[in-house]
Amino acid sequence: MSAQTQGRLAGKVSLVTGGASGIGEATVGAFVEQGARVVIADVRADAARSVAKELGGPDVAIGVGMDVSVEKDVAAGFDAGVEAFGCIDVAFLNAGILGASGPISQTRVEDWDRTLDVLVKGPFLGIKHAARVMEPLGRGAIVLTSSIAGLAGGIGSHAYTTAKTAVVGLTQSAASELCHFGIRVNAVAPGTVPTNMTVPPGDEAMGQRVRDMIAASSPLGIAGSPRDVADAVVYLSSDEARYVSGVTIAVDAGYLAGGTKGQFHKGEGHMTTGIAGDN
Ligand SMILES: NC(=O)c1ccc[n+]([C@@H]2O[C@H](COP(=O)([O-])OP(=O)(O)OC[C@H]3O[C@@H](n4cnc5c(N)ncnc54)[C@H](O)[C@@H]3O)[C@@H](O)[C@H]2O)c1
Repeated sequence: MSAQTQGRLAGKVSLVTGGASGIGEATVGAFVEQGARVVIADVRADAARSVAKELGGPDVAIGVGMDVSVEKDVAAGFDAGVEAFGCIDVAFLNAGILGASGPISQTRVEDWDRTLDVLVKGPFLGIKHAARVMEPLGRGAIVLTSSIAGLAGGIGSHAYTTAKTAVVGLTQSAASELCHFGIRVNAVAPGTVPTNMTVPPGDEAMGQRVRDMIAASSPLGIAGSPRDVADAVVYLSSDEARYVSGVTIAVDAGYLAGGTKGQFHKGEGHMTTGIAGDN
């Protein structure tokens, strides 16, 4: 197999779950641009294979079917990557669903369980099998997808918020063990960016309204894209981040930093005006 020698991920082999769409697909593209070969793992096997074909086929990318909540699928996906490319250096554990929604009093247990199966058991199984293939190499980078909903309440549903908060804890916990094998574990916490998850395909007028709302909620005044998240994942996956492990990076245009509430800094609050009791 030919390996690219140019780029920030030159020569590395990566596996991306949920790689057939949205943030995962954008990251797969960015990885290939930066010289990595990619295993695109998705529950939609045909879509994963078709993205792999578009990227240039088996010298560069292969697509595999994988339900991240099923251990034999996850194990087989990592094994397929090792067989095709010799090793896995980078695992981006990103597959996700919105899952259970609505008031907690009406949340069905089956929906809660499925949400946590995909969003928490999935990353656990991904880390487990990434560790299996990375530990003997003594190197590796694992990146998980949390969410701003994992860093503050009231942004996502109860199950989604719980799951994405668990991802932050799992990132720290796994980092604390796997550092002894030279493996770094980090997460990204995206703000809202347009993907099939946030802008369901089919109704173009509705889709445009949602895209406009997403752009309007950006404190920086620019609409975020899956590529903005992918660029952070490239950094965390590359040797530029060799001294970074256990962190969750918000990629949210400053939303969680209070970017939508910046009135203080426009002279409307006591921190700026110095007037006691002005809060
Ligand atoms: N889009 C956003 O605004 C946003 C914000 C914060 C976090 N996230 C997170 O980003 C990740 C990617 O979401 P996206 O927005 O790109 O959505 P998306 O729907 O475009 O992509 C998700 C991908 O995951 C795949 N998938 C779903 N269930 C799976 C399973 N059980 N096993 C394997 N693959 C599965 C889907 O087929 C799809 O290709 C998710 O973890 C999501 O929670 C998204």
